[in-house]
Amino acid sequence: MIVGIARPGTGRFGANEHLDELHGLVEAASGEVVGRVLQERRAPDSATWIGKGKANEVAALVAETKAALVVFDDDLSPAQLRNLEKIVAVKVIDRSTLILDIFAKRARTAEARTQVELAQLEYMLPRLTRQWVHLSRQAGGIGTRGVGETQLEIDRRLVRTRIRRLEEELRKIEQSRRLRRSGRSVFTVALAGYTNAGKSTLFNRLTSDTTYAADKLFATLDSKLRRMNGEMPLQTVAADTVGFVRKLPHHLVASFRSTMAETTEADLVLHVVDASHPASDEQEAVGREVLQNLGVDQSNVVVVHNKVDRLGAGFGRAGDVVRVSALDGRGIGELLAVIRERQRALGQVVELLIPHHEAKVRARLYETGRVEAITEREECSEIRAWIPSAQIPELEQFRK
Ligand code: GTP
Repeated sequence: MIVGIARPGTGRFGANEHLDELHGLVEAASGEVVGRVLQERRAPDSATWIGKGKANEVAALVAETKAALVVFDDDLSPAQLRNLEKIVAVKVIDRSTLILDIFAKRARTAEARTQVELAQLEYMLPRLTRQWVHLSRQAGGIGTRGVGETQLEIDRRLVRTRIRRLEEELRKIEQSRRLRRSGRSVFTVALAGYTNAGKSTLFNRLTSDTTYAADKLFATLDSKLRRMNGEMPLQTVAADTVGFVRKLPHHLVASFRSTMAETTEADLVLHVVDASHPASDEQEAVGREVLQNLGVDQSNVVVVHNKVDRLGAGFGRAGDVVRVSALDGRGIGELLAVIRERQRALGQVVELLIPHHEAKVRARLYETGRVEAITEREECSEIRAWIPSAQIPELEQFRK
């Protein structure tokens, strides 16, 4: 059973769309939606979010449909969850818990799994009081209070210890990633955007391999890197990343920062938007906000409107936006051209002859440029490298 409230700001239409998305999320978690409840309210009720009367209605619907779980579209406080479970008599969860559950199911790499567990524990910590309530209820509530509290403290301490260990593990994973990357000589293009926007499809279109593309939310959780098609001035790889979603709580975004590292460290971010979606504008805004929160510079972002085949016409460049169909390939040539231009604008590939005693110059090439080929000669190294424009004057004397 999915439940949401419509506030004066969002209105019924907006709230219904949010519930449609929650429906999709429940299915992505392998659940089946048997009913939905939308309550219009000026402000949420502090005890039950939707109000006691409505909660009783939900309870009746749950009994009638034999729903096993009630999912709320917004984050609930521990007290609200507790009160609601008492009324509806089945498990109650909120949107964040649902999203974390999907993430947990989709996580494949050690890093993604670590991040998901960390996010789950951090979300759980302030809500741990619930366990105690269940325990005390089981024990009849007589003489269990002191014991329950002690148990709760033990639980909290265990969770905190586990959180610290996971944080430590993540730091190590990130460190080794940085090491791996420090020697890179490639241009990275990250595909980011709202879940189901078509990132994996576009990724497959831009690279030669086939990855899993599914009409499911969050089909992609772990980021993948592949060499890009098309003649580029630089060696170019594309990265497919996890989808964004509306109301993804900020603490969640923070804990996925490292999964999103491909995005924050990319030379160029393609912000993929499903232009055929009714809420396309809002999804684009959510994407922009997440990218901003991740600290991605707007000037490194190219907005790609995808699924334009469903709209009929208008492929290619339109102002700052590139309109494509990842499915049938229209507009992709122009997108590749935009990426090429971006690369050219940043610098150029030059052939250099660096004498062996100029170790500093060579070190700087590796630091700021991208070395593509080296041939060692007796007196010097012959190096082909991509150099950022700003650095070209100082290297003029070494030009071949
Ligand atoms: P997440 O992994 O959930 O973030 O999704 P994603 O952004 O990677 O989307 P994905 O590539 O899995 O595509 C989602 C659905 O949209 C699939 O059913 C695709 O076939 C479909 N799709 C992708 N691109 C296009 C397109 O250009 N046109 C049309 N009509 N459908 C598309």
